[in-house]
Amino acid sequence: MRLSASLLAADPSALGAEVHRAQSAGVDRFHVDVMDGRYAPNLALTPRLIPALQRHTSRPFDIHLEVESPDAMLRAFACTGVETIIVHLDTLREPLSTFREIRSRHAAVGLALNRTQDLEAARDLLAEIDLLVLMAVDPGFGGQSLDSGVYTKLAAARRLRDQLSRSLEIAIDGGVTTDNAGEIVAAGADQLITGTALFAAPDMRSVVETLKGTRRPA
Ligand code: DX5
Ligand code: ZN
Repeated sequence: MRLSASLLAADPSALGAEVHRAQSAGVDRFHVDVMDGRYAPNLALTPRLIPALQRHTSRPFDIHLEVESPDAMLRAFACTGVETIIVHLDTLREPLSTFREIRSRHAAVGLALNRTQDLEAARDLLAEIDLLVLMAVDPGFGGQSLDSGVYTKLAAARRLRDQLSRSLEIAIDGGVTTDNAGEIVAAGADQLITGTALFAAPDMRSVVETLKGTRRPA
């Protein structure tokens, strides 16, 4: 189980220190949400933040483009050396061309499906991506509750993944807590993307241990 810390929930006045704190607590990677105020009703983070934060950690960064026109932003973010670029299926005019563009910039391809979007819409693309992100909340804000419909979708995604001859990681983004992590992992997730449950916790290390499965949920 890999744990990715979503910086949307970190203290924005001290992001460098927050990244350092999360690395010390044991998170595996960082998840940076980018929003343009159109696709998601919020604004978040610019490319220059990534190299600034990379100075505070040796862990990889992934970018989650919750924007109307991800193609226009790929170059700016790929230049920062992020490991994975996650784009939303319903923002892509030509998915394969966007994936090629991401790979040509030496990043892995992440594809996100919104909470209400059917897995079938992504079925033919699963062989072309490295990470499938199933949203368990609506894009825009941290601290929302997980939509339990994601468990069925996750199990179905896991079945499709098992038919593929290449590796594909499946992640859940949004509403992940120490209470539901066990069920999410049991349904087949390889990666948890978590913001509020980590950064708002009085003891981040204990939350990390629970989420990563090294301690059973209380
Ligand atoms: C929502 C973002 C999520 C969010 C998760 O638009 O994509 O990454 O930060 O935060 P929590 O864990 O608070 O639901
Ligand atoms: Zn996200």
